[in-house]
Amino acid sequence: MSLSLSDLSKVVIDAQYAVRGPIVKRAGELERSGRAIIYCNIGNPQALGQKPLSYVRQSLALMQYPELAQKSPQAFPPDVLERAAELLAASVGGLGAYSESKGLRIVREAVARFISRRDSDSSLIVTSDPEHIYLTDGASKGVQSILRLLIASDRDGIMIPIPQYPLYSASITLYGGYQVGYYLEEATGWALSREELERAYGEASSRGIKVKAICVINPGNPTGAVLSKDNIAMVISFAKDHGLSILADEVYQENIYRPDDKFVSFARVLAELGDTDVCLFSFHSCSKGFHGECGQRGGYFEARNVSTEVLAQITKLQSIALCANLNGQILVYLMVRPPEPGEASFEQYEKEKKEILGELAARAKLLAEGLNKIQGYSCAPIAGAMYAFPTITLPPGRSDTQYCLALLEETGICLVPGEGFGQAEGSAHFRTTILPPRAQLLQVLEKLENFNKHWK
Ligand SMILES: Cc1ncc(COP(=O)(O)O)c(C=O)c1O
Repeated sequence: MSLSLSDLSKVVIDAQYAVRGPIVKRAGELERSGRAIIYCNIGNPQALGQKPLSYVRQSLALMQYPELAQKSPQAFPPDVLERAAELLAASVGGLGAYSESKGLRIVREAVARFISRRDSDSSLIVTSDPEHIYLTDGASKGVQSILRLLIASDRDGIMIPIPQYPLYSASITLYGGYQVGYYLEEATGWALSREELERAYGEASSRGIKVKAICVINPGNPTGAVLSKDNIAMVISFAKDHGLSILADEVYQENIYRPDDKFVSFARVLAELGDTDVCLFSFHSCSKGFHGECGQRGGYFEARNVSTEVLAQITKLQSIALCANLNGQILVYLMVRPPEPGEASFEQYEKEKKEILGELAARAKLLAEGLNKIQGYSCAPIAGAMYAFPTITLPPGRSDTQYCLALLEETGICLVPGEGFGQAEGSAHFRTTILPPRAQLLQVLEKLENFNKHWK
């Protein structure tokens, strides 16, 4: 073969993506040889049995095959028929045609209304401009576009949380930037502190790194922590003081499980502070929340306090891939424009949503409690997102990667070792999702406990 690894781009070879890494590869091999595998490695709700929302799939079916509206109108609630007709009329050529590079205008307008409704209250109206919204193939592509935009040299630093979701570390490597890790503090429920941000920033600057942006994941993956409004204001003030852009990854904004926690967006806090200096890119996705439509690749980002010249460059960047897939764009529309009270689909939609979120909250509680009962494990409460990231105590000289591999071989449970997300020196963790059904989660807990008792 004429093409060898030495011919390839070094950054591709160097990039690591643990949630689909060697342990998952081994799980695939075991599965092909007939072993039953419980995939707890990735936040992929429908792969673990979560049902899609009827409203979403009915609307999508009509968009894919508009003749259904004439052939079987009785199969669809009237609001779904209306919505599909409206969307088809607004998308020249339907799902088979490219849209403009930013995405269909009707979808971007709906996203802007959604953001404004989500973030406004009687004390403050938060506006959003559809021209500052970009539809993307999942949030991943949006994050990558902004990192691509910002990283101009190997001395350009991007601050990311440790532990982090490896999309960030892998993409920074791919684009030749410099990763500046700031540690979340496990002992205080993975809190974020200004001192730690300053430490990480100062250390990078003293090495000649020009820090350009800070990424924040809220609710956190893998930590499950939910940021308070004060914490968000602190990050904004830090970014302002150092002239940084903010990338706010808010894909888990609907996944909040404890009654006292509330999702507050960076856009809302920025508007409250009346800040017009700090550039904010915030990301959302159809893959998480209660939709769980990971495979359909719908997402968007909103750019705030970003100049027209920079927006033009972002639009050009998006245009290189023509546009986000149209199916995903429609999914975004359906996510931000759910049925409203009085519409035919409303009750069923609310019922399905409540069931999914209720079940996720129950699983989050069951899993955190169960993990904390295992000797040598300690798990912070799972306040949000879809994961537990417990600390584990290992025999001397052993790593969490070895632990997860041995666990997979013995029990068929596929987890991601803490090493893949980054962790404090000397600590060991794994990440598991909360997504398997409760009966299966109980089995997972039992197998973990048994394995943990004897593994050396
Ligand atoms: C924090 C975070 N951001 C982004 C993504 C990417 O999601 P998407 O499917 O929208 O690309 C994920 C997926 O798990 C995630 O956990």
